[in-house]
Amino acid sequence: MSSDSLASETTAPTLPAGNEAPAKIIPISDAHRHVGERVEFQGWLYNLRKSGKIVFPIIRDGSGMMQCVAVKSNLPEDVFEMLKGLTQESSFTVTGTIRAESRAHGGYELDVTDAKLIQRVSEESPYPITPKEHGVDFLMDHRHLWLRSRRQHAAIRVRHQVIKSIRDYLDSNGFTLVDTPIFTPAACEGTTTLFEVDYFGDEKVYLTQSGQLYNEANAMAFGKVYCFGPTFRAEKSKTRRHLTEFWMVEPEMAYADLEEVKRVAEALVVYIVGRVLEQHEEDLKVLERDPSKLENIKAPFPRMSYDDAVKILQSKGSEIRWGGDFGNADETLLTQDFDRPVIVDRYPTQIKGFYFQPDEQRPELALGVDVIAPEAYGEIIGGGQRIHDLALLDKRLQEHHLPREAFEWYRDLRRFGTVPHAGFGMGVERFVAWMCGLEHVRETIPYPRMLYRTRP
Ligand code: 4AD
Ligand code: MG
Repeated sequence: MSSDSLASETTAPTLPAGNEAPAKIIPISDAHRHVGERVEFQGWLYNLRKSGKIVFPIIRDGSGMMQCVAVKSNLPEDVFEMLKGLTQESSFTVTGTIRAESRAHGGYELDVTDAKLIQRVSEESPYPITPKEHGVDFLMDHRHLWLRSRRQHAAIRVRHQVIKSIRDYLDSNGFTLVDTPIFTPAACEGTTTLFEVDYFGDEKVYLTQSGQLYNEANAMAFGKVYCFGPTFRAEKSKTRRHLTEFWMVEPEMAYADLEEVKRVAEALVVYIVGRVLEQHEEDLKVLERDPSKLENIKAPFPRMSYDDAVKILQSKGSEIRWGGDFGNADETLLTQDFDRPVIVDRYPTQIKGFYFQPDEQRPELALGVDVIAPEAYGEIIGGGQRIHDLALLDKRLQEHHLPREAFEWYRDLRRFGTVPHAGFGMGVERFVAWMCGLEHVRETIPYPRMLYRTRP
């Protein structure tokens, strides 16, 4: 490289006319720290109001929105005309001075001194999502654009917080993140909901339903672990709680029992709810979510056995019989009288996975637990204590017609220093739906995968 080109690289940027220094580019969410300063926003047009010789473009940049005030007499003519002609979702940058304005949404406005068009959306094919009502199918087909809308944006921000809070909680409570594979040779949650993948036409592999089995190995290596990733269920159920691809966090602990699972699950839920309330007041408002419904989510949560839950349900008119699994309607009935999640434990062995440790006094019961959210959000957590005895595990594998070869490594865990251990899984989307008060989990994940949807 010649010394010439080096020199040119270090030259200061050309100053704009008037010899002003370039404005500082900031996110709109930082506006309150730059009142009175000249700044630049980079974004898209959310809305435009015109009033004679003034136009009011509202710019959104992903971090927030701000109303800009562009006065014809203060701007070069082409800049004013460009702003005046902006169409919804056109991309542009705008420079100006931030002014506190109590009447403005967010409390600030930008007095525009300059602006630059990046791309103008043509009138011939305008932005398809307009303020008018659209059907859900239309919106889902345009999910890649729908994410720019205020409600969707708010829900995904809450999702981010839920995920961050999960990590923060576990990371600061002695858990190590140990990732588990997505291609797996064995079922964890029953063979009927497996997605089979053609793996070079060789051995059969499936998309993981749960990282639990690997977590158990990892817990024997690290003590307290968690995995956090996408999981897959070929669920043919078309309900508002089911996705075929969803995100699950799964903590697993060595030397732990069912009681410990309940304690950690409760503490985790309380922590996340607190963080959402503390940091997402504005988003909850956009979502029209009543925060008072979440303010009660404090320990202790009501606890009951499956036996008692069945009795309560029967007294409320449910047709459930002992031995049956709870349907959505049952879960809703069960939590009806409570303002916080309900913890139900000790389910009949026959409705639970192969890996549950049986209750010592009543072996027909599995040491499993579900946490059921109020307001009809249903089961958000499922977990329990695992079988640690090899002979019992082998018996269960056989009863569940599971191929022993695929579980050889899992059996090793019972051969080499087996200990009681326990853990659980929490579905992110159901949790977010509950936080946001959303009717359906499809709006809690950027690109939902469901029985009839794999696009965009
Ligand atoms: O109750 P599940 O099936 O439990 C397990 O997978 C255990 N192996 C977890 C463990 O102990 N490590 O699923 C756990 C949670 C449910 O409570 C629910 O929140 C969520 O995962 N979930 C789903 N979320 C959306 N769509 C689906 N189809 C879901 N299936 C389960
Ligand atoms: Mg479950």
